[in-house]
Amino acid sequence: MDKNKLKIAFIGGGNMASCVFNGIVKTRPHQDEIMVSGPHVEKLEHFKAQGAQVTSDNAAAFAFGEVVFLGVKPQMMPVVLDGLKQSGVSYDDKLIVSMAAGWRLQAFEHRLGPCKLVRIMPNTPAKLGLGVTAVCTGREVSAEERDLCLSLLEGLGKTVLTDEAGINSLGALAGSAPAFMYRFMEALVSETVKHGFSEAEARAIIEQMALGTAQMVIHNQDQSLAQLREAVTSKGGTTFQGLQQMTQYKFEEMMTEVIEACLRRTHEFEEMFD
Ligand SMILES: NC(=O)c1ccc[n+]([C@@H]2O[C@H](COP(=O)([O-])OP(=O)(O)OC[C@H]3O[C@@H](n4cnc5c(N)ncnc54)[C@H](OP(=O)(O)O)[C@@H]3O)[C@@H](O)[C@H]2O)c1
Repeated sequence: MDKNKLKIAFIGGGNMASCVFNGIVKTRPHQDEIMVSGPHVEKLEHFKAQGAQVTSDNAAAFAFGEVVFLGVKPQMMPVVLDGLKQSGVSYDDKLIVSMAAGWRLQAFEHRLGPCKLVRIMPNTPAKLGLGVTAVCTGREVSAEERDLCLSLLEGLGKTVLTDEAGINSLGALAGSAPAFMYRFMEALVSETVKHGFSEAEARAIIEQMALGTAQMVIHNQDQSLAQLREAVTSKGGTTFQGLQQMTQYKFEEMMTEVIEACLRRTHEFEEMFD
């Protein structure tokens, strides 16, 4: 396989596959050939518009790809893997990259036998190139293949090389966490509206506050988050009173429970898809 001129396949061309595809097209020299398969080719027009081939035949995409991204929903995976296995296409030399939550490497091996497998867990800010993508490689994957996979994901944002436990925890802490941040922001927007601002004004205010706060964190690496928080908090002042309420309502304990709940669900999926 020539890593500067790859044949890349996507089996399933939904949201996350589009995101990975866009990242690849954005960051790599335009010498790769890409094929995308899905049951409704008419939904794959945007891939075609960017130079990819599209097909409704998963086996054709599988045969084509040197690197094959599996972009189907976890519950569709058994039928898709069975189809790929039965197609008779040899996959000894293919790098198979799954983005499916709850699908352990061993679950793939149960169905496909030993193969070169990588699990990735992107999050939705990857659409803007601001994602965090956890990456974990199976035992058949060489260091070169791992690095190739990491380079393919560069356009999504940060990548974190980890193990399967790390895929699960980052699934919660980076994958689900944008929903927690949205919820936090929703609550602040509601409070802003309660205090007399229009919805549009409230959203603009809270957006800018969140953006500015994230930038403060990024631009002040020499200070801990606690120091940044303390810099906004004078003892006995207004922010101090607000933070006291967060403590009284056990904010940290709640976040531990939130993450634990995500992980419990992940483990349930793992049992289901084993
Ligand atoms: N979205 C996220 O934030 C996120 C984050 C991390 C990981 N993931 C993982 O990414 C994967 C895809 O999620 P998604 O959000 O992108 O879902 P999605 O938008 O629903 O995409 C799934 C795609 O699979 C296609 N498909 C269905 N049956 C198929 C089959 N038999 N063969 C080939 N393709 C088939 C669907 O095509 P039709 O629409 O034509 O039926 C659809 O394009 C999941 O495993 C999920 O766990 C998603």
